[in-house]
Amino acid sequence: MCKEITPFVKWAGGKGQLIDKIEERFPTEFGKSINRYIEPFVGGGALLIHILSDKRYENVKEIYINDINVRLINTYLAIKKSVDPVLELLKTYQDEYNQLFPTKEDQKAFRTHYYYTKRDLFNSYKDDLIHSHIEAGKPHVESAALFTFLNRTCFNGLYRVNSQGDYNVPMGRYVHPRIYDEANLRALSQALQRVTILTGPYKNLSSLISEHSLVYCDPPYRPLTETASFTSYAKFSFNDEDQKELAEWATKMAAENKGYFILSNSDPHNIDKNDNFFDDIYRDFTIERILAKRRISRDKSTRKDVYELLIHNK
Ligand SMILES: C[S@@+](CC[C@H](N)C(=O)[O-])C[C@H]1O[C@@H](n2cnc3c(N)ncnc32)[C@H](O)[C@@H]1O
Repeated sequence: MCKEITPFVKWAGGKGQLIDKIEERFPTEFGKSINRYIEPFVGGGALLIHILSDKRYENVKEIYINDINVRLINTYLAIKKSVDPVLELLKTYQDEYNQLFPTKEDQKAFRTHYYYTKRDLFNSYKDDLIHSHIEAGKPHVESAALFTFLNRTCFNGLYRVNSQGDYNVPMGRYVHPRIYDEANLRALSQALQRVTILTGPYKNLSSLISEHSLVYCDPPYRPLTETASFTSYAKFSFNDEDQKELAEWATKMAAENKGYFILSNSDPHNIDKNDNFFDDIYRDFTIERILAKRRISRDKSTRKDVYELLIHNK
């Protein structure tokens, strides 16, 4: 039996809520003749982790995940290959972060100092160094543990970097953040043994796509409002030109390589009924508008039901 696993990071645009809807659009041959799953923009990997936990997908022989965020991919690799030392560090961070102080003010001062010291340490390991570890087949364990710690203790689980690539999210306000989650990370580590983990631009995956592949693309959302930009996950932003390029790539891959595609994005009709950006660029696909609950800007008063797009070539 597969163990229930939950994503190890919170991730902007996490697909937790939409899993059932996406799954309903899987081709019936998935797990049979379609036995390769490819996720070029894996992020927090909500759908990947669902697939890994569900017995129905045991026969999916090959699973490939990719993300342009090198430090995120290093963390997946470290959990896959070196879960013991990652857990050891996380246990230490959790014990240190949760230690008791005589007053709340003392605790807050300590935690603030601790968080920003760990953030500086994380930023001292530059992308090039992490890349060289990945290429040598030896993920950087401390960067992976710091990545997980920061994700659990930062503001809203955001991942944002400045122009130098330094992670700059402030501390969050969690009272009991779960930093060390041994059972989940061990189960994930075991499940990741059947996953090939890659880092780079999504187009690097072209040669993997064939009529036996299901490709799920969840690129950075096209922002609905100018203030609600969630598109800076990595140094590379994802603007309208990038969305168009992705649509052209998916159209070509679906036609020439015969891959089965599912893509998700925000629905511009939430704001402007005349904005047919995705309808135009995905004119060769089926576009469905699915009800989801999420915030459309940082202002809590604008939290409401919104539609998301599921785009596919079923
Ligand atoms: C919306 S998130 C994916 C969320 C994910 N489905 C989840 O459930 O957490 C988009 C991801 O695309 C990655 N990304 C951005 N540009 C990319 C590119 N050109 N190639 C590959 N990945 C990219 C970002 O680093 C980010 O992790």
